[in-house]
Amino acid sequence: MSHIDYDERIPNNVNLSSDKRLLKALEKWQPAYLSWWNDVGPQVFSTNEIYLRTAISTDAGGWANYGFVRMPEYRWGIFLNDKEEGRTIPAGDHAGKPVWDEVPGEYRNTLKRIIVVQADTEPASVEQQRYLASTAPSLYDARNLFQVNVEEGRHLWAMVYLLQAYFGRDGRDEADELLARRAGDADKPRILDAFNQPCTDWLTFHCFTCFTDRDGKYQLGALAESAFDPLARTCKFMLTEEAHHLFVGESGMERIIRRSAQLARESSNGDARELGGIDLTTIQKYVNYWFSYSIDLFGSEVSTNAADFFASGLKGRWREAKDYDEHSALGQTRDIWEVKDGLLVAEQVALRNAMNEELRDQYAKDCQRVVNRWNAALQDEGVTDIEITLPSTRFHRRQGIYASHHFDREGKIITEAQFEAMRDHWLPTQADRDYVQSLMKPVLEPGKFANYIAAPRRGINRQEVDFEYVRTDG
Ligand SMILES: [Fe+2]
Ligand SMILES: [Fe+2]
Repeated sequence: MSHIDYDERIPNNVNLSSDKRLLKALEKWQPAYLSWWNDVGPQVFSTNEIYLRTAISTDAGGWANYGFVRMPEYRWGIFLNDKEEGRTIPAGDHAGKPVWDEVPGEYRNTLKRIIVVQADTEPASVEQQRYLASTAPSLYDARNLFQVNVEEGRHLWAMVYLLQAYFGRDGRDEADELLARRAGDADKPRILDAFNQPCTDWLTFHCFTCFTDRDGKYQLGALAESAFDPLARTCKFMLTEEAHHLFVGESGMERIIRRSAQLARESSNGDARELGGIDLTTIQKYVNYWFSYSIDLFGSEVSTNAADFFASGLKGRWREAKDYDEHSALGQTRDIWEVKDGLLVAEQVALRNAMNEELRDQYAKDCQRVVNRWNAALQDEGVTDIEITLPSTRFHRRQGIYASHHFDREGKIITEAQFEAMRDHWLPTQADRDYVQSLMKPVLEPGKFANYIAAPRRGINRQEVDFEYVRTDG
């Protein structure tokens, strides 16, 4: 395992102290990062002690160190998975050749753009969620929110390290810009749309961590198969942390869904709202909304950029090295449903041009697995007539080849008027949002939970559910 410098100002396992120029650049960026954190990071319990996991190394004993930390004192560091000796390029035209330890000149701009777009999502979600803890449904949930927030901050560090270490002056400028853009800002918004949506309620937060962080999992997965080895190594470690964010979203949704079923059962009219829960109809609308926003993030179904990224080895497919025998993807095609003269027609597309769609398929399959678990929870609660479902990947798109058409939830072409007539059945209305918002009241007693969400089955790091995850008195 690589040597860990945890005593330094910036904990790292990349031997930062041996590169004075880089160290200086990062130490200059650090106070800017901290002032960004203080300005637009968590604004509630911002200096309280929180029971958090801190990575101090990438090995089994080091990446999940738990203890009470005040967030501004969190040790954000730079951790890359260990170098795999003899690793070869997993995908594309250079497959099988040694991986790159430096950025080849011809891919410099493309690679920088890929890293910046990924990096930009990390601080964005922290900004989106900065007031959310004021309505935490429990200390357990507040702690999970903060865990996600500090790790998104660490992911920003992971990406900024690459920019500063491998892209010189341009990289340093990009690192500064990453602290200058703001989620939802009219003049300087974050790059991707889903990261400009406000997050002021906990149904949205759990949808976001379930569906949008899961997009992150697949993007990181594609980059973990990159020919640029430092990027692959950093993404592999980020994936380890990301798994917790997905757990927070998946289990958070399951707890809301379970509670919805319980309250509906106890109510006089079968409606969870009567007893202050969130009804399954509303939950389904939020799922429709966030699933469709998140699949937009994979880019266009047919894309020459995606083909170029794959050909050059900058990105691979999900588990490229493990799951595929053939790594060129040449001479292969796949069908993409395109709209021609108002009809959906299957068009054969060169596989390389369909790499976004390939990744989206993997993502959608993963989401379906999650939804199946929620439905198992519903069954467990005795609900046999309603299931949560995912809409078609064509539904409600704003990016890609379906964005200029209208589809119903099953993916059938409809007119704009037909879509508008159904909009309020499929997507959250202002009244739905107002209702959900009206339930957002903080519950800060250890072991107590807001009425709309079930308690988790177990606590964090084998602590009890009623453990004081946030020390509210300081
Ligand atoms: Fe992240
Ligand atoms: Fe995440």
